[in-house]
Amino acid sequence: MKIAIGVDHGGIEYKQAVIDLLESQNIEYKDFGCYSTDSCDYTEFAEKVAKAVVSGDCDKGVLICGTGIGMSIAANKFKGIRCAHCHDLFSAEMTRLHNNSNVVAFGARVIDKDLAVKIVDKFINTPFSNEERHIRRVNDIIRIETENLK
Ligand code: RB5
Repeated sequence: MKIAIGVDHGGIEYKQAVIDLLESQNIEYKDFGCYSTDSCDYTEFAEKVAKAVVSGDCDKGVLICGTGIGMSIAANKFKGIRCAHCHDLFSAEMTRLHNNSNVVAFGARVIDKDLAVKIVDKFINTPFSNEERHIRRVNDIIRIETENLK
């Protein structure tokens, strides 16, 4: 498993904690930046992470900005991305089980670092349920995307 990580200046404070978690589990990752607290545009990092996941270079993505909202909106503009905006463990688990989400986004100005790390842990280590009704619904998301995302 390889994880793509992208943050903006609002999320950079949490990046190292996520990297520490991945390293403690021997999980490969690619850090797409940003690399300083200078103000920057979250769209750049959402795009890099989304492209890495869509291309198959990375299996899942983690996006952190101030709220996680801008990152998730931008990532969900990519065909093949199902980015879940999660600020609690239940949602992080359910979105993997039910939606087969491939990117998680959250805000460093919304939740504390401990919870952020637990959310990443839950997200990357929970498999898709593979239950028929969830496969059907995810396929319907893909149909909607194909018909409407030009
Ligand atoms: C940056 O100030 C902030 O707008 C950004 O981190 C994010 O919260 C946007 O959705």
